[in-house]
Amino acid sequence: MKRQIVLAITGGSGVVYAVRLIEVLLSAACDVHLTISRAGATVLKEELDLSVNLEDFQPNMLLLGDTRALDDSKLQLVRSLAGLSSESSNVLSVATGEPGNLNYYHFNRLTAPIASGSFLTDGMVICPCSMSTLATIVHGGGTNLIHRAAEVHLKERRKLILVPRETPLSTVHLRNMLMASEYGAVVLPAMPGFYHGVMGIRDLIDFIVARIADQLGIENALISRWGENST
Ligand SMILES: Cc1cc2nc3c(=O)[nH]c(=O)nc-3n(C[C@H](O)[C@H](O)[C@H](O)COP(=O)(O)O)c2cc1C
Repeated sequence: MKRQIVLAITGGSGVVYAVRLIEVLLSAACDVHLTISRAGATVLKEELDLSVNLEDFQPNMLLLGDTRALDDSKLQLVRSLAGLSSESSNVLSVATGEPGNLNYYHFNRLTAPIASGSFLTDGMVICPCSMSTLATIVHGGGTNLIHRAAEVHLKERRKLILVPRETPLSTVHLRNMLMASEYGAVVLPAMPGFYHGVMGIRDLIDFIVARIADQLGIENALISRWGENST
């Protein structure tokens, strides 16, 4: 059985990490259960010029699947930024065979499978995770599918990876992140390192995506690892 990964895109900066992550997860033969907040869609438009219709989502809105009908210049822009390509399998250290499937759920669809603990998953990633979503999760006041799925992962003691991005951090942010960590979530801020031979933005994106993949136990060769090339 394929690994089942829940991915939520919320309204933090850095949505390009999520686009790249989906590509890596699918090529690693993971089924991806995707949901996107309203603010997440706004940031996808602002940062990547991607128009995502949350009510009628199609994979090509995130430059996945059949992209033949899309504007070529937009494709080139996001592909060069995120490293999206048809050769994506070269980011994995093991052959995976069949790619995974992408399943999409509207963020208000509280009847979706991922709203229940009985739907077995191998973890959830919120990337980017807005400070607003993070606060809602740690204070247990959830109203949408993203909050509910995160709550399920905490109560079922499954891996929940939060990828916040904000700077500077207020005391409220810091306290909420501490609480998230105390409750069992992995707080993995979108803070790329610069020690892996960075040649461009793609290497910074892949640094974060590799750390998320590592947390999910997905073998990958997205970046060269510290000590890997030393004698
Ligand atoms: C272009 C843009 C960038 C944003 N960047 C961030 C960010 O980096 N971190 C953050 O916590 N909020 C950021 N926000 C604000 C959130 O989108 C806002 O708090 C929103 O209510 C979050 O809703 P959500 O958690 O349901 O996605 C940004 C908003 C916009 C429009």
